[in-house]
Amino acid sequence: MCGIIGYVGTRDVVPVLIGGLKKLEYRGYDSAGIAVVNGNGVEVVRAEGKLSNLEAKLDDRKLHGSFGMGHTRWATHGKPNENNAHPHRDCTGQVVVIHNGIIENFLPLKQRLQKAGHEFKTETDTEVVAHLIEERIKGGTKFVDAVRQTLKELEGHFALVMIDGSEPGTIVAAKQGPPLVVGLGENENIIASDVAPLLAYTRNIIYLEDGEYAIADQQNVRVFDKNDNDVTRPPKKILWDAVMAEKEGYRHYMLKEIHEQPRAVRDTFNGRMFEESAQIYFNDLQLTADDWAKIKKVQVIACGTSWHAGLVGKFLLEDAARIPIEVDYGSEYRYRNPIIDGSTLVIGVTQSGETADTIAGMQEAKRQGAKLITICNVIGAAATRMSDGVIYTNAGPEIGVASTKAFTTQLTAFYLLSLYIRELRGEDVSVRKQGMHEMRMIPHRIEHILKHQEQHIERLAHKYANSTDFLFLGRGVHYPIALEGALKLKEISYIHAEGYPAGEMKHGPIALIDENLPVVAIATKTPVYDKVVSNLQEVKARDGKLIVICDEGDEEIAKLADDVIEIPHTIEPLQPILSVVPTQLLAYYIALRLGKDVDQPRNLAKSVTVE
Ligand code: AGP
Repeated sequence: MCGIIGYVGTRDVVPVLIGGLKKLEYRGYDSAGIAVVNGNGVEVVRAEGKLSNLEAKLDDRKLHGSFGMGHTRWATHGKPNENNAHPHRDCTGQVVVIHNGIIENFLPLKQRLQKAGHEFKTETDTEVVAHLIEERIKGGTKFVDAVRQTLKELEGHFALVMIDGSEPGTIVAAKQGPPLVVGLGENENIIASDVAPLLAYTRNIIYLEDGEYAIADQQNVRVFDKNDNDVTRPPKKILWDAVMAEKEGYRHYMLKEIHEQPRAVRDTFNGRMFEESAQIYFNDLQLTADDWAKIKKVQVIACGTSWHAGLVGKFLLEDAARIPIEVDYGSEYRYRNPIIDGSTLVIGVTQSGETADTIAGMQEAKRQGAKLITICNVIGAAATRMSDGVIYTNAGPEIGVASTKAFTTQLTAFYLLSLYIRELRGEDVSVRKQGMHEMRMIPHRIEHILKHQEQHIERLAHKYANSTDFLFLGRGVHYPIALEGALKLKEISYIHAEGYPAGEMKHGPIALIDENLPVVAIATKTPVYDKVVSNLQEVKARDGKLIVICDEGDEEIAKLADDVIEIPHTIEPLQPILSVVPTQLLAYYIALRLGKDVDQPRNLAKSVTVE
């Protein structure tokens, strides 16, 4: 995700900005840029690709100043090239903006500004902010008030840092979603996406809350709420070292990434889902109603966790499309002589976009004439370059080897695709609207699980950590979650675990059940709920230890299970995004209890680029 840094003080600003951006590199980016205000006005330097490209340009420019901003961009709106790299400017070049997140209503704002004569130079949603501020300054409003008024017009999730070269020395930073922190120094103040770049200058940090904005100059920082009231919040003293800062205080990347899921899921649907018209908008997906009419079957190719996302995708797409959907392992697909032709749509699902088995399968499908799309988390990765269309999951870089936020955002992408297919097929608007409403609630529901169940799950992890085997059960949309829960536990705790469709248990695995076997089951209210309950009674009758993930307040399950983990209710196709979260936490806390290397489990690599 984008990295943000803003500085006002006495130091030479370019090394401060570049040093800060280096500390934010771990967030992932495809271009970078800085703006410096000095005697020459606002000077902006940007470059595609790595920070070293930007540094090379700066070597030629010899820029100096003590006030400016820097940005690493993870593209959402518009290609990852120099022109779309931040900072972005208004028509005068004096108002400069950097941004992380998505301005959802940028399109109508842009149209209005264009009509008023503003000239846009980029494909980004960010640029509207600079022009909106400019519009007000032109009308005689001072910069800070122009920002205040502009913020009230913006919808979406964003972190913004804004400066005006004609009023040097003042930075305004606003938060509505993505993180933004202010470091209070001596004769200097510094703003960034997280604390990592601030630690070289100060340990006194103010965390901005949603809806708040800060006005900083060399001496002071004032914080305001969304109604422009002063906020008084004493700074926190941060004692983290640099590595802890990158993990934002979490013990492991995996735990940080589990907690990032509300944001990651939101960033995946934001700007793509329009409830009023019940429309889905994918800017990188070339799949029109005419294209869709020619598709007779869909094949999903993936590996590991992404394959599990594909299995959930099969449920969602089959229901929406009413055509056959197959899901294959990348390593199996091309060796089984698959039936592919021009009426086949192949969906490659890959977080990294570099998994050799998945790419080999996609290449084979392309060679035989299939239309190819990819669900991917990394812009410009190999899988995206070979595809006709891409749905990016805006999870941000995933560092923990065990995939968590990449998975829930893949499920989000599949759900949006299923709504899009319903739209292409001219299906009922009310179903799509209700689906969008439920989707929008999912981040809150994940937050609810994290808030109310994490400690309980940690206790359960301690209770069951010494078990040598686990069985995970689910049916329908939750069968892939049973597989995913088992995979997560195996990967990071090295405990043997199997995922099974609950109805299949009686055909074999039931022989394993005794008082030593914990059985983790997902039994939320779906059309097969009663069947799952019967399966769980079979476990109980054989003294198995039942840990059940169920809907809040389910008394029937409470009576039957040894332990319950309650999750909020949602519509069936979205339930897997919620039911997987307790399985991630259970695996994490068991591995932690056993003292395993959670982020770098033995024998595993984050991206498997060999066959
Ligand atoms: C999941 O926890 C694993 N790290 C692994 O199964 C992973 O999902 C698989 O290797 C596929 O990776 P990809 O999504 O990058 O293609």
